Amino acid sequence: MQEQWTAVDRYLTDRLAPADPILDAALADSEAAGLPAIHVAPNQGKMLTLLARTVGARRILEIGTLGGYSTLWLARGLPADGSGRIVTLEYEPRHAEVARANFARAGLSGSIEVRVGPALETLPTLAAENPVPFDLIFIDADKDNYPSYLEWSLNFGG
Ligand SMILES: C[S@@+](CC[C@H](N)C(=O)[O-])C[C@H]1O[C@@H](n2cnc3c(N)ncnc32)[C@H](O)[C@@H]1O
Repeated sequence: MQEQWTAVDRYLTDRLAPADPILDAALADSEAAGLPAIHVAPNQGKMLTLLARTVGARRILEIGTLGGYSTLWLARGLPADGSGRIVTLEYEPRHAEVARANFARAGLSGSIEVRVGPALETLPTLAAENPVPFDLIFIDADKDNYPSYLEWSLNFGG
């Protein structure tokens, strides 16, 4: 069963999310930096791009950056004119550092802001800034806090 699952996953990934230098480098550098391989799969990343495009997302919030792999996929769904923005929240300074380097290589440092700290602390700070509502929110961090993240996400909606 696992074999079949893996084969189907590979089939979809090969067709929908072929090798890509920026994304592949982000994963390679994350691995080299010792980050855990708990990023989204390429086909899931492609789905994130598709979701962002489908809703016409201009502002995206992500909770759980890791090395920024999913963030890069989300960024591909932003408007082509460079006007879109992503705020991504990460607990581990080392993860944030790797992610920032990956965003810089992709030429996206001006579009993606990484905020470091426990999301339950960075979310209230973000909310206090009264940001323009987010069009899309991707929660991919510590599972125990998902109910709280969902509450915050509902507050951030337009
Ligand atoms: C599953 S990984 C994120 C993967 C990333 N979205 C991707 O697919 O490339 C979860 C990340 O959430 C971070 N994290 C864990 N607890 C957190 C918290 N309380 N606040 C913010 N980030 C947290 C972890 O350090 C880790 O980098």
